[in-house]
Amino acid sequence: EMKAVIFDLDGVITDTAEYHYLAWKQLGEELGIPFDRTFNEQLKGVSRMESLEKILAYGNKTNAYTVEEKEQFATKKNELYKQLIQKITPNDLLPGIEKFMQEVKEKGMKIGLASASKNAFTVIEKLEVGHYFDTIVDAATVKHSKPDPEVFLKAADQLGVPYESCVGVEDAQAGVEAIKRAGMFAVGVGNADQLAQADLVVSSTNELKFVDLFRAFTEK
Ligand code: BG6
Ligand code: MG
Repeated sequence: EMKAVIFDLDGVITDTAEYHYLAWKQLGEELGIPFDRTFNEQLKGVSRMESLEKILAYGNKTNAYTVEEKEQFATKKNELYKQLIQKITPNDLLPGIEKFMQEVKEKGMKIGLASASKNAFTVIEKLEVGHYFDTIVDAATVKHSKPDPEVFLKAADQLGVPYESCVGVEDAQAGVEAIKRAGMFAVGVGNADQLAQADLVVSSTNELKFVDLFRAFTEK
């Protein structure tokens, strides 16, 4: 029985996935490691330091920098990112997502947030959607980042809902993997080939409908 829906933030509630991409891309270019959107799919949902490591590995520069230099790069990326999220307002909610959250609430489901970002609270505040969430788990409170299931498990524990009664909603490959490893039903938002592990894929947040989700969950 479905009892809770746990949302990812970046790329599901709002398009901050694009801002993460732009900030990493700029840093990558400064380091002489240009990359495109296809490579960026591997960064989605992944923590800040692990994203940097993936970029350095992609440029064959894994051992080129000291720990201190790497920390400076990560800080630089975060400064760029923080500038980009400054201008977020409630108008930046992705199409249909607020309506979907309202529907989920009306059906008596609990709502959780499971984000890999240390900036999650800032973004939620700017979007003015904090009141929808019965619990928020962000990067500051988990040890292992996606694709590890910890952030989803913790959200479910805090909601008091068994894992098999939870639905996770994600735009990232690492995120969908985390949901599946948590033993939950996975909804992917995006490209069906990239999110092939998900139990249900919709092409955009506008396509998220409670009836469709309920049917797919019940059939599984
Ligand atoms: C995830 C994003 O939500 O948060 C990743 O999908 C990002 O792209 C990660 O790297 C960490 O975010 P932050 O804000 O802590 O650097
Ligand atoms: Mg995401």
